[in-house]
Amino acid sequence: MQRLYIIGSGPGGLDYLSPAARTALESCSDLVGHGLYLNLLGPLAEGKTRHKTPMGEELGRATIALDLAAAGQTTALISSGDAGIYGMATVVFELLARKPKPEWAAVDIEVIPGISAMQAAAARVGAPLAHDFCVISLSDLLTPWDLIARRIDLAGQGDFAVALYNAVSNKRAWQLQEARQILLRYRQPETPVIVAFNVTRKGEQLTVTTLGELDPEPLNMLSLVLVGNSETRRVGQWVYTPRGYHAKPELAGHPLVTAD
Ligand SMILES: C[S@@+](CC[C@H](N)C(=O)[O-])C[C@H]1O[C@@H](n2cnc3c(N)ncnc32)[C@H](O)[C@@H]1O
Repeated sequence: MQRLYIIGSGPGGLDYLSPAARTALESCSDLVGHGLYLNLLGPLAEGKTRHKTPMGEELGRATIALDLAAAGQTTALISSGDAGIYGMATVVFELLARKPKPEWAAVDIEVIPGISAMQAAAARVGAPLAHDFCVISLSDLLTPWDLIARRIDLAGQGDFAVALYNAVSNKRAWQLQEARQILLRYRQPETPVIVAFNVTRKGEQLTVTTLGELDPEPLNMLSLVLVGNSETRRVGQWVYTPRGYHAKPELAGHPLVTAD
């Protein structure tokens, strides 16, 4: 059988890899992915043929994975976090739509979900994404900055909590500063912000700061930023966003609803 698994390997720590992903990995002879993510699989990658490709070579990586699977090698294409969130799953489908090879038609594809980095970061600090939220990538490699800025503005207007992926890279940090300025049109400077680096991986760091004090300088491409909505608050060491029920008078006496 020609089989390609597109696996979301989670934020990094193997404890956060799903049992479905483990089972799929066990059945594979070949792994394709960025070297960092293949290395993070540790013992689960042992005995498999590893095809490491550099960052930025996504189309080539997906082509290798489809070719291997079409040739009869049970293959896993590894994507960090969830493969469907700024991950490799869509790259495979774009290739199938735009430049299909006839032999790829026989490949049976399964996408296996993973825990996205924002979920792991949110859990570390409490529940900052507990109500409506959106996710925006600040990378303008494939998306024009005007569109990204408009989305940030609308997230501000809509009072969504916002997870910012690809917040900075080696080459750019101004986008995060600009995103901060846009959100400050709608949010108080005291709005809680979480800066998460290498979540669940060696060297993990999480910092809770505010929108007013957010400093893009120390961040790198292994970081993401969570910005609370107008209701997000702190209790002790935790950050949470209330579920929004307290405006409803009929729920005011509900034991799970706080009075403030
Ligand atoms: C191409 S996106 C991949 C996102 C991934 N598919 C997911 O669902 O988490 C890469 C960006 O994800 C974020 N990221 C991924 N893993 C992370 C981690 N363990 N800690 C912090 N940020 C992470 C960073 O913003 C990084 O620049």
